[in-house]
Amino acid sequence: MTVNPHDTDVLIIGSGAAGLTAALNLADRFRVTVLAKSRIDDGSTAWAQGGIAAVLEPGDTFDSHVEDTMVAGAGLNQRETVEFVVGQAPRAIARLVELGVPFNMEGNALHLTREGGHSHRRIVHVNDATGWAVQQALQHAAEAHPNITLVPNRVAIDLATSRHEMRYSGAGNVWGVYAVNRETGRVELFTARATILATGGAGRTYLFSTAPRGATGDGIAMAWRAGARVANMEFMQFHPTCLYNLDIKNFLITEAVRGEGGHLLLPDHQGVAGGHRFMPDFDPRAELAPRDVVARAIDHEIKRLGLDYVHLDISHKGAEFVRGHFPTIYEKLLGLGIDMTREPIPVVPAQHYTCGGIIIDRDGRTDLPGLYAAGECSESGLHGANRLASNSLLECFVFGESAASHIAAHWADLPPPPAIRPWDESRVADSDEEVVIKQNWTEIRRFMWNYVGIVRTTKRLERAQHRINMLSEEVDDYYGHFRVTPDLIELRNLLQTADLIVRCALARRESRGLHYTLDYPHMLPIAHDTILVP
Ligand code: FAD
Ligand code: SIN
Repeated sequence: MTVNPHDTDVLIIGSGAAGLTAALNLADRFRVTVLAKSRIDDGSTAWAQGGIAAVLEPGDTFDSHVEDTMVAGAGLNQRETVEFVVGQAPRAIARLVELGVPFNMEGNALHLTREGGHSHRRIVHVNDATGWAVQQALQHAAEAHPNITLVPNRVAIDLATSRHEMRYSGAGNVWGVYAVNRETGRVELFTARATILATGGAGRTYLFSTAPRGATGDGIAMAWRAGARVANMEFMQFHPTCLYNLDIKNFLITEAVRGEGGHLLLPDHQGVAGGHRFMPDFDPRAELAPRDVVARAIDHEIKRLGLDYVHLDISHKGAEFVRGHFPTIYEKLLGLGIDMTREPIPVVPAQHYTCGGIIIDRDGRTDLPGLYAAGECSESGLHGANRLASNSLLECFVFGESAASHIAAHWADLPPPPAIRPWDESRVADSDEEVVIKQNWTEIRRFMWNYVGIVRTTKRLERAQHRINMLSEEVDDYYGHFRVTPDLIELRNLLQTADLIVRCALARRESRGLHYTLDYPHMLPIAHDTILVP
């Protein structure tokens, strides 16, 4: 009998596309517990707009999807991984259809849209709110399964490892996690034979990000602290078209708007009439170039002309087409006084996706026995130096299933957890100055935006590093003295992730994909990963 209070077979931290896919693939054989930081649908998955990439149309080929992924990723992708994921895509879509995801249809076939970097129409979608439909379908299936327990409002603090065993075995396994219960404020211990990190990205390290509030890199930071390697964190993706609005800082305007013919135009500025379509000046693929190219072009024009934003215009396609294809965005903008069927949308680039993360193999295994990872928190080799549009949800489905399959196939080799020490509750003092947390959150996000953004220099990166070092001392001291709270946990992880991003960026002495530095503007002939070893 176990002495650990919340023991299960498999523990999954994260209830988005990756976590729930893994859970559904395990639940027929094992007891599965899934933790979420707040609501079960609080991750990026529910916010996804454009769709999921898969080769489904006659005339399109796996080779073409592989090539587009490699071109966007500036050759840093692992080709075998790309081939594996692309090959699994049609099956992943078929399973979502079985789960009831109401994809848009054209006759008897799935309707396919197009996005930047894709040389074919290959994005299945549910209007312009694909992620919400996917999250609902996965969640309903998980709620209905008797072997899956969904536990909202638990903020994981740190992985439970050999260091936390009552009798130290030295085996180096991961046995679960310590997490704060938001309702009681108490720290609970969850143990399992296998733990899967599916905690999403780290977008909130930046001031402007399309990602939800909880994208603070928790899984990446926890895995790093437990001893797992992390790679390619310099490749933070900036989506070219986030709505420019001083109150709403994170509303995405899907890439499908450009895919369906939207143009990027200069706005009127200082008495000069706008309307110039500038993307053809930068790249022959114009608005359909990969994201890094389009985001850099917009950033260049904004800085060159002193603009606040540029315009994205699709009004020339007609009101019926626009409302039919983008009903969610149309309604949202109308509520803000912008009629996208008649006028252009003001847009700016914003952080959108974390390409790097915890290193995993094809089976979702990390460096640590018993620990797996899937989805945006992981580095699988799929995205290389820049993720291709709509490949991210796909990665979640494929690696969520791979991790589950490996656990099932090797169950006998996974030892049950020994007795683990409960959380040390001796730090009972409440923080004396909550303002410290807020101040540091804002400071990190601002210097990451200014110094570690779309265009970098070594000097700017060193400035960021200097600030991270100073703040680390303060946050460590704070963490060591006061009761852990969700905000403090996130601040600690935000800082840890910022440090990993800057260390990777300083180590890369070239410009490749999303990492563009004025000090090393050229791409080296041989692509190499930036691997950080704890
Ligand atoms: P998420 O869905 O982000 O889920 C993370 C989970 O981890 C959450 O349940 C959270 O509560 C939990 N968690 C995190 N930290 C902790 C902790 N400390 N303790 C407990 N639980 C924790 N990709 C596409 O392919 N197509 C698209 O159209 C698309 N559109 C996008 C639009 C937007 C606005 C955004 C932000 C992203 C978009 N992406 C898209 C990217 C894609 O949505 C994400 O990469 C993907 O959903 C990530 O899924 P995930 O399962 O890895 O993590
Ligand atoms: C979008 O709809 O533009 C987002 C797609 C993605 O992030 O892959």
